[in-house]
Amino acid sequence: MAQAQQEGTGAVAVWDIPVRLFHWVLVLLIAFSWLSRKMDWMTWHMYSGYAVLTLILFRILWGFVGSSTARFSDFIYGPRAVIAYVKTLPSRTAAKFSGHNPLGGISVVLILLCVLVQAGTGMFANDDIINEGPLYKHVSKELSDWLTTIHKYNFNVLLTLIGAHIAAVLYYLFWKSENLTTAMFTGRKQLPAGTALPRMRDAGLAAVLLAVCGAGVWLLVNS
Ligand code: HEM
Ligand code: HEM
Repeated sequence: MAQAQQEGTGAVAVWDIPVRLFHWVLVLLIAFSWLSRKMDWMTWHMYSGYAVLTLILFRILWGFVGSSTARFSDFIYGPRAVIAYVKTLPSRTAAKFSGHNPLGGISVVLILLCVLVQAGTGMFANDDIINEGPLYKHVSKELSDWLTTIHKYNFNVLLTLIGAHIAAVLYYLFWKSENLTTAMFTGRKQLPAGTALPRMRDAGLAAVLLAVCGAGVWLLVNS
């Protein structure tokens, strides 16, 4: 807690800038992907999808080399830890996790996978009229139709996960008096005494990884 005492506020850096930017830009892009499809702005729908794909690929890499709270190894727990955590849910006191708790970790992995499936299937999708994802030409019409169906249904799965995610954030706010959302903006969180301090990673590496993922998606789109 030395760092927290130096700051005078007791708040500790838990979310690095890449994770925070990733989160809020992803939220905006998913909303825009939905809107652009509704409004039939398909060129923008696809651009938005490429950006989402880039972000998800980046977040997967950052999950291996990023700050400790961004790493999969930090928030993927075994069933025993998850069950033990679930038993503490009715308690009104905050748990000792600087990053995602074991249940939150499951939800993060599910959301990342679901968004990856959404953007990935979109790359092969077609609307039987004029719009085709850039990888449509590499597969049969039958396979593209099948992936388009997944693209349509998976969006409902994503909406369900997002609904559960927001419900969980509200549960922590009103039941446990923990404002997780402010921490996702400021990057800092008040941690209970005895919580292990996170190790933060330089954001320069994140910029390089993001550029590599962007280049990879560009190559795919132009393949
Ligand atoms: C399109 C909607 C959303 C998606 C796809 C989404 C996705 C995610 C993902 C993937 C993470 C993990 C962050 C990481 O480790 O990289 C996360 C965490 C988080 N999200 Fe969202 N989110 C959405 C909307 C929201 C909204 C509207 C709020 C606030 C009201 C919110 C608050 C949070 C918070 C507080 C965390 C950190 C949870 C913790 O402390 O463990 N999210 N979200
Ligand atoms: C996370 C990113 C994305 C989201 C949230 C999303 C969401 C949606 C939604 C809600 C629909 C309408 C489904 C329906 O009519 O019921 C749709 C259709 C479509 N999307 Fe996406 N999409 C994403 C990424 C992409 C990408 C990357 C591409 C291609 C580059 C793409 C191409 C298409 C096409 C061609 C359709 C028309 C299919 C049809 O209506 O028959 N999408 N998308």
